[in-house]
Amino acid sequence: MAIREILKHPHPTLRKKSKVVTEFDDNLRKLVADMADTMYDAPGAGLAAPQIGVLQRVVIMDVTSKEEEGQLIVLVNPVILHGEGSQVDEEGCLSVVDFTAKVKRFEKIRVRTQNMAGEENEFEAEGWFARVIQHELDHIEGALFIDHLSSLKRALYKKQRKKQLREEMKLEKDQVNHD
Ligand code: NI
Repeated sequence: MAIREILKHPHPTLRKKSKVVTEFDDNLRKLVADMADTMYDAPGAGLAAPQIGVLQRVVIMDVTSKEEEGQLIVLVNPVILHGEGSQVDEEGCLSVVDFTAKVKRFEKIRVRTQNMAGEENEFEAEGWFARVIQHELDHIEGALFIDHLSSLKRALYKKQRKKQLREEMKLEKDQVNHD
């Protein structure tokens, strides 16, 4: 088990579509263990495999509150079968630095998934739980929550991000010059 680096937008891997998991083996268990370590360390409510550079259809989440005992949920090859209603709430992402925005999602969804042993099951989710699932499923399609924003909001984010990246590059350069 290990804490892995979380890729940040605009890393190109975050824009790639993940592959269906076909082997339910030790590699999958190791991937999920690393994802859990990384998510709890961040900390975040959810993490998708592409965020640590692995293009596999695996997402994890823990939607319990701080006061409750944590409960890790692992979805392998998840699919939204049905969505209804709508909710709008603030979203952030471990791969989108220093930015949150209101995003519209289904209020209620029906999901088909496999577990780590490859067994299939279906369940319903609503509210915050349904929101986290929809957010994480975007990741395995190469989508990010910023894709759901108005072009104006997205432009604002991109401008802010570019400035950050310029500053990071400048810092690195200064460090090199001082060595
Ligand atoms: Ni995210």
